[in-house]
Amino acid sequence: MSTKKQSFIAKLLHTNGLQHAGYLTVAKTRAKALKAFSYVVSIRRPMLFVGETSCEELCDMLINEGSINVFIVTDAVLNQLSIPAKVTDYLESKHISYHVYDGITPDPTFEVVEEGLQKSIDTKCDAIIAIGGGSVIDAAKMIAMSQGNNCKPQQLIGLFKAKKPSMPLYCVPTTAGTGSEATLGAVVSDDKTHQKALSIDPKMVPLAAAIDPTIMQGMPAHITADTGIDVLTHALESWMSANASVETDYYAASAVKSVMHNLPVVYEDGDNLKAREQMGIAAHYGGIAFNKAGLGYVHAIAHQLGAYYGIPHGRANAIVLPYVLDVNRKACQKRLTELAKKTGMVKDGKTANSDAKIAEHLIAEVRQLIATLNINPIVKGMQSSDFESIAKAAAKEVRDTYAVPIYLSKSEIKDLLTKIKQAGEDRTNKDKSNDKAA
Ligand SMILES: [Fe+2]
Repeated sequence: MSTKKQSFIAKLLHTNGLQHAGYLTVAKTRAKALKAFSYVVSIRRPMLFVGETSCEELCDMLINEGSINVFIVTDAVLNQLSIPAKVTDYLESKHISYHVYDGITPDPTFEVVEEGLQKSIDTKCDAIIAIGGGSVIDAAKMIAMSQGNNCKPQQLIGLFKAKKPSMPLYCVPTTAGTGSEATLGAVVSDDKTHQKALSIDPKMVPLAAAIDPTIMQGMPAHITADTGIDVLTHALESWMSANASVETDYYAASAVKSVMHNLPVVYEDGDNLKAREQMGIAAHYGGIAFNKAGLGYVHAIAHQLGAYYGIPHGRANAIVLPYVLDVNRKACQKRLTELAKKTGMVKDGKTANSDAKIAEHLIAEVRQLIATLNINPIVKGMQSSDFESIAKAAAKEVRDTYAVPIYLSKSEIKDLLTKIKQAGEDRTNKDKSNDKAA
């Protein structure tokens, strides 16, 4: 895409906010700009390797591309568990030199990224492999882009800031969740404000990803559940987006169908490699879908719950998702019905039901899945006095970033938060009375 087109779309997306009267106009203008963005920008797909030999295949690709000195980005826990060994053993057998850097922390800050960047520069590497979850992959994207552009990571925040290609980047996701190995964005936390900063650029899409079920095999059940619901949320929000297309619908529906079937299986049996593999593909497909269609209120509110109360991202999504589906139900009735039919959630006997009933059935199925996964619905420390600023920040995120099917007022977002708080309190009281009875 030409620089002129890039800067025009970037300007549209940066229109300054107005008070509520102008909110919808600004939000809808940005949604249209996002749609234009998804039409005119060609977003590369990473080469995808799947299965128990996928890490080796990914390394073969890297070697065939001419790399001889690899910088491996991971975190300390994964390194202690020797998760990178599958990659490093293979590189060693092929006489490729490598350096392992395990300094990435959850929700990495600029400081963390800068430290990784300096180490990467010091090693004079010619390719980077990220082995980890969303935080590791996002940090590696920022390191690779900064190194490729000879700039500080802060200079990449915003849209289309990179002038040159990223360093060659390859990814091995260790969780089936963010789908970050497929996306054109990376999130970094500001060291001081702890606000999230986003860098979006098609140059950020990794060259290749390996979905290796054996790498994901040891993931504890509660993390499998949380990250799995993140996949479902990406797919559902992409499907409900006003910017959904035939292409994004294909990936979103495939991901929804896979999660509904495979997530309860891997939650019960983490060693089921076929289901692990399918969840890994679903996460990747979810990433492809939201790359173009975007997300919505579930993520906008869940990001705030994460920032205010430190709740893991996937769990926050699981708590918020049913409420947003309820709010969207009327506006998305036909779309949800279509999705329920496409993904086999309604059996032959039920197709005669009205759209309203079928949409309701889909939402009930999602609630049932979340219940099956025993996801704790309590947000510890949730305060009504925070709701005004949470609602404001969530509304801003939606206005700036997403093309939602229906726009909520601040008071509607606060009502939703009140319901979440009440449900958490009800659950706490129920748990207490069960404890007394026992
Ligand atoms: Fe997410």
